[in-house]
Amino acid sequence: MMSNANMIEVSNLTRTYKTKSGGVIKAVDKVNLQVSEGEFLTILGPSGSGKTTLLNLIGGLDKPSSGRIVLDGLEFSKLCDGDLVNVRREKVGFVFQAFNLIPTFTALENVEAALVPTNMPKDERLQRSSKLLEMMGLSERANHLPSELSAGEQQRVAIARAFANKPRVLLLDEPTGNLDTKTGKEILQLCHQVSKTQGQTVVAVTHATYVKDITNRVLYMRDGKLYTEIPQGEAVQ
Ligand SMILES: Nc1ncnc2c1ncn2[C@@H]1O[C@H](COP(=O)(O)OP(=O)(O)OP(=O)(O)O)[C@@H](O)[C@H]1O
Ligand SMILES: [Mg+2]
Repeated sequence: MMSNANMIEVSNLTRTYKTKSGGVIKAVDKVNLQVSEGEFLTILGPSGSGKTTLLNLIGGLDKPSSGRIVLDGLEFSKLCDGDLVNVRREKVGFVFQAFNLIPTFTALENVEAALVPTNMPKDERLQRSSKLLEMMGLSERANHLPSELSAGEQQRVAIARAFANKPRVLLLDEPTGNLDTKTGKEILQLCHQVSKTQGQTVVAVTHATYVKDITNRVLYMRDGKLYTEIPQGEAVQ
């Protein structure tokens, strides 16, 4: 069977929120987007431009006000809630803006936890999790609790966890948030390498303009809309 040229197809996607004062915020405003299989796309945008809202829609964590999302050939609006949960579990890996590591689990246990819902035996889960931590340069930190890790190290654990069950699609929300430029670049390069090795499609959203040097394609988000170039009249960050 031929593979899908587009892993993600978003058409005319809108997500509005009502404000307390009776107004409407268009967090995502008529967005069209195609991401090919194996592509590493980055979306750059300032705070409040709608990046997290868009990622949550693509990952099936939130439902649009209007418009269409197709992921790996599956149209979300045609799935019942249970099927959508399964698609998310089987095909999508998230790195959330807040790392959401389990504080009482070690780095290794945090990664392994992602594999518990699969049928993989425990020793295999631990082996795969150790390998991923090794790829992230964290072998020496496998048995540390999140509170014993730096922000960059915690971020790498969260990334290893998202990669653990080899999802077709990885959604990274500020994967370099709060990191210095050097560490941020290293982490993005690692994500790029691992996703290429595993043939995964990645959408990363961030404020960090240096991602331009690392990823295939960059789009710009402003007030809920996507642009192929920085909107005119705006200072380059
Ligand atoms: N649950 C909500 N209710 C009302 N408004 C919301 C809600 N979530 C987000 N918004 C608004 O939607 C807009 C987009 O928010 P979003 O979190 O997607 O931005 P972002 O680009 O991810 O920002 P940041 O870079 O700060 O994470 C903002 O104006 C935000 O205030
Ligand atoms: Mg956000």
